[in-house]
Amino acid sequence: MRVLFVCLGNICRSPTAEGIFRKKIEDTGLSHLVTCDSAGTSAYHSGQPADGRMTAHAKDRGYMLTSRARQLIEEDLENFDIILTMDNSNYENARALDSRHQYNDKIKKMVSYCKIHSVDEVPDPYYGGDDGFQFVIDILEDACDELILEIKEILK
Ligand code: 4NP
Repeated sequence: MRVLFVCLGNICRSPTAEGIFRKKIEDTGLSHLVTCDSAGTSAYHSGQPADGRMTAHAKDRGYMLTSRARQLIEEDLENFDIILTMDNSNYENARALDSRHQYNDKIKKMVSYCKIHSVDEVPDPYYGGDDGFQFVIDILEDACDELILEIKEILK
C-alpha cells in the first residue's frame, strides 16, 4: 500500500501529513506493508526541506519532517494507491493531471477522513502564525487516525 500526500509547495502541509502518517504507521507495526511520500502541485520549492516553522511545530508534537520538496507528476497517480490532497485547489490540480480520467477513485481529500474536525480543507499555514501550524497538525492527526483504520481494513 503506497500513500501520497499532496499540497501546493510540498514544504508545509503534505510533509507534515507524511511525518504524522509515518510515525503512526510505525507505531501500529505496519511499516513493512505501508509506505508514504509527499509532493506539491507546484515546483516553487522543489529540492527544499520542509518549512522551518512547520518542522519546529511538528517536532514539538513528536513528528520528524525529513522530506525534500518535489513536484507531483502524472506517474505518481499510477504509482500510488491513495493520493490525498490538502485543499480544494490541490484536489482540482491533481485531478487535472489525470488526463485520461483513470485515477479518479484514488484521488481523495484528506479532510474527508476527519472525525473530530469539521473543515472543508487543510488550510495553508504559510502566511499565518503559530496557531495555523498547530491547527494543521490537529487536522492531520485526526485524518491520519481514520485513514489508518481504513487501511487496516483493506489489508485484512
Ligand atoms: P504548502 O504551503 O502547500 O502546505 O507547502 C505553502 C508553501 C509555500 C507557498 C504556499 C503554500 N508559497 O506560496 O510559496
